[in-house]
Amino acid sequence: MERRTIGAAALAVGAVGLGCMPMSWAYSGSRQRGDESLRAVHRALDLGSTLLDTADMYGPFTNELLVGRVLKERREDAFVSTKVGLLVGEQHVVANGRPGYVKRACDASLRRLQTDYIDLYQLHRADPEVPVEETWGAMAGLVQAGKVRALGLCAVGARSGRRPGAGLHDATVRQLQRVQQVFPVSAVQAELSVWSPDALAALLPWCETRGVGFLAAMPLGNGFLTGTLTPGEGFEPDDVRARHPRFTAEMMAANQPIVAGLRRVAHRHGEDVTPAQVALAWALAQGRHVVAVPGAKQERWVAENAAAAGVRLTAHDLAEVAELPVARGSWD
Ligand SMILES: NC(=O)c1ccc[n+]([C@@H]2O[C@H](COP(=O)([O-])OP(=O)(O)OC[C@H]3O[C@@H](n4cnc5c(N)ncnc54)[C@H](OP(=O)(O)O)[C@@H]3O)[C@@H](O)[C@H]2O)c1
Repeated sequence: MERRTIGAAALAVGAVGLGCMPMSWAYSGSRQRGDESLRAVHRALDLGSTLLDTADMYGPFTNELLVGRVLKERREDAFVSTKVGLLVGEQHVVANGRPGYVKRACDASLRRLQTDYIDLYQLHRADPEVPVEETWGAMAGLVQAGKVRALGLCAVGARSGRRPGAGLHDATVRQLQRVQQVFPVSAVQAELSVWSPDALAALLPWCETRGVGFLAAMPLGNGFLTGTLTPGEGFEPDDVRARHPRFTAEMMAANQPIVAGLRRVAHRHGEDVTPAQVALAWALAQGRHVVAVPGAKQERWVAENAAAAGVRLTAHDLAEVAELPVARGSWD
């Protein structure tokens, strides 16, 4: 698989990584299968999808434990990125960016991951009660202690409470400028997909001009862009899509032209090429600093997604995707 280099620390990874979150979190729990997930992670590494993205809060904790079972056997084949800063409470997820907590959380992640270093340690969310420089300073201390190789920042974007006219990622860019004064940012992780291209406006260029890697999260639109989901089939209550405004039967039906467009492009590249692969190839085409991180827990999806690194979209394909309708259904 094509390798891409991310960030100040010049870390090389396969262009398509593996988001491990669906194996333990956010998607229907009844479909989670530990053994199949383990096979999926091994398959990813066999195919060169070296970046395994996880977080302490996925599960919570069980996702890191699962990844740790693979790392124990083949640490040198993998690039592990995990996250700190969010705690799962009874009712809510809460941010914790206190320096002492960050250090303890890192040691706990290392134990679960069965390794003595984390390749990329990402701040999941900034804690509004703690200046982000303090949290980042504690994370930098972990690099100096040899527990972490590089630092990253996650940015889901401010979906509410934004000033009129402000971009989705304006606040994140300001945050990046602040932490960059303390210790170099190697990667930014944020949603980027054909139906959620907001990061293209400011976040991607910010990364590109500074040699910072960009991890494209949710590149398959939580599965929608693969064309394998049927409008109206519904989602189990523990699946994030049960509450996602784009996953009502009405919005899924309204957004079908986007999938149809991806399928048209796919067919030009071959009988076996899928809309999912075009969606991933589109993310990779946004810059050499982009690594796609599709989530999957099934081996067959992992193999299909890894093969997307070999799908090269033409200027004509990219122009056609740019003309697809804007997605309907919004959090705002
Ligand atoms: N930093 C953050 O705040 C943040 C937030 C969200 C996500 N993330 C990261 O980004 C990763 C990706 O996001 P995501 O997993 O939510 O969304 P996604 O990658 O857009 O979509 C994942 C969904 O697509 C399905 N899928 C994957 N490949 C497929 C294929 N080839 N054909 C058909 N279906 C396919 C998966 O099914 P199965 O599950 O059945 O395999 C899963 O339901 C996560 O795993 C996580 O590591 C980070």
